[in-house]
Amino acid sequence: MSKPTLWLRCEKKEFERRAALTPTTSKKLIDAGFDIIVERDEQRIFDDSEYEAVGCKLVDNNSWPSAPTDVPIIGLKELPVSTDPLPHTHIQFAHCYKKQAGWSSVLGRFHRGGGTLYDLEFLEDAKGRRVAAFGFHAGFAGAAAGALALASERKGEKLGLLQPYVNEEAMISDVKKALGGSGKGTKALVIGALGRCGRGAVDLFRKIGLDEEDIIKWDMDETAKGGPFQEILDVDIFVNCIYLSSQIPPFLTHEQIIKAGKNRRLSVVVDVSCDTTNPFNPIPIYSINTTFSAPTVPVDLPSELTPLSVVSIDHLPTLLPREASEQFSSDLLPSLLEFPNRQTARVWTDAEKLYRKKLAEAVEAEGL
Ligand SMILES: NC(=O)c1ccc[n+]([C@@H]2O[C@H](COP(=O)([O-])OP(=O)(O)OC[C@H]3O[C@@H](n4cnc5c(N)ncnc54)[C@H](O)[C@@H]3O)[C@@H](O)[C@H]2O)c1
Repeated sequence: MSKPTLWLRCEKKEFERRAALTPTTSKKLIDAGFDIIVERDEQRIFDDSEYEAVGCKLVDNNSWPSAPTDVPIIGLKELPVSTDPLPHTHIQFAHCYKKQAGWSSVLGRFHRGGGTLYDLEFLEDAKGRRVAAFGFHAGFAGAAAGALALASERKGEKLGLLQPYVNEEAMISDVKKALGGSGKGTKALVIGALGRCGRGAVDLFRKIGLDEEDIIKWDMDETAKGGPFQEILDVDIFVNCIYLSSQIPPFLTHEQIIKAGKNRRLSVVVDVSCDTTNPFNPIPIYSINTTFSAPTVPVDLPSELTPLSVVSIDHLPTLLPREASEQFSSDLLPSLLEFPNRQTARVWTDAEKLYRKKLAEAVEAEGL
């Protein structure tokens, strides 16, 4: 391998249309001296021709297993379950460092093949913050789903299937149309508003026409007084975007909702944080994650009360595959430019150290 090379593999996870490298970031890598090889992929939101046009070399779908073993493979989501050894270097989300189901068998594949895993979730800057994450578009799409659910509720209907949008404009125009042309007059409260997801939720509400004073933005300072909060009942849509790291008093409870009776404006709760099964879930009014095909779950309330529904989809960025990929990939780019120096570049040496630690745990667990 003469030039630094990255091989963008196809995604095999159902409905996954996002990509770790976009035509934009591929072009920047090529300009910096990289060879970028891209597997043809019908599922990806970007057309193969968009990669070809910026100078990527196109190869067959799912052909990475026969790539030279010194070519690093980059993808987004988990590889399909298999026991095949993995001899390559892979950059991806592998979801196997927190002892998720099947974690040791995934790492066992790397052990047997002699490959290396750089998990995208654990690439961190010098301050320990993730270099790239999908939060912004999760909040943006979550707020859109909430506004669509509100529009349905106003018509006495239940929100139906949500499908990925070709771009942000299409999503905004769909939401505005559902709300009768604009979101003006709707009131929303975003908690965790200073974070990635929270900023995305606020941005969507602005773009669909809510007045600035109708977008209430709360973060640590405002919740310090401790919930439950009456303010949540006084808006149409509440979006929870906090990063839950310890036990906190609930933001909203069944009891509080029932007590408010008909004096409640709140129609939709969007739990972007989705700490659904966490014992400290600050919104203990629902217990399942919802899906694109059934985006809302009703809160169990006495029949005389107006309905209240919850959106708790845990893969929201998939609704905006193009913009979510562009943002993630451009945040990742500075680290990728350092990848040829991965033996010394801190972001990569730290990631490899973590991989070696997890690998040793898996080797022990699997008895390899
Ligand atoms: N549903 C999805 O598809 C999806 C996608 C991406 C991320 N997430 C989840 O969304 C959550 C937020 O992610 P992020 O990247 O935006 O995190 P982040 O760290 O960028 O932001 C979290 C924000 O929450 C605030 N916060 C924490 N505790 C709070 C409290 N008690 N009261 C008020 N504010 C509080 C923080 O100050 C921060 O501003 C995470 O749990 C993440 O796993 C969900």
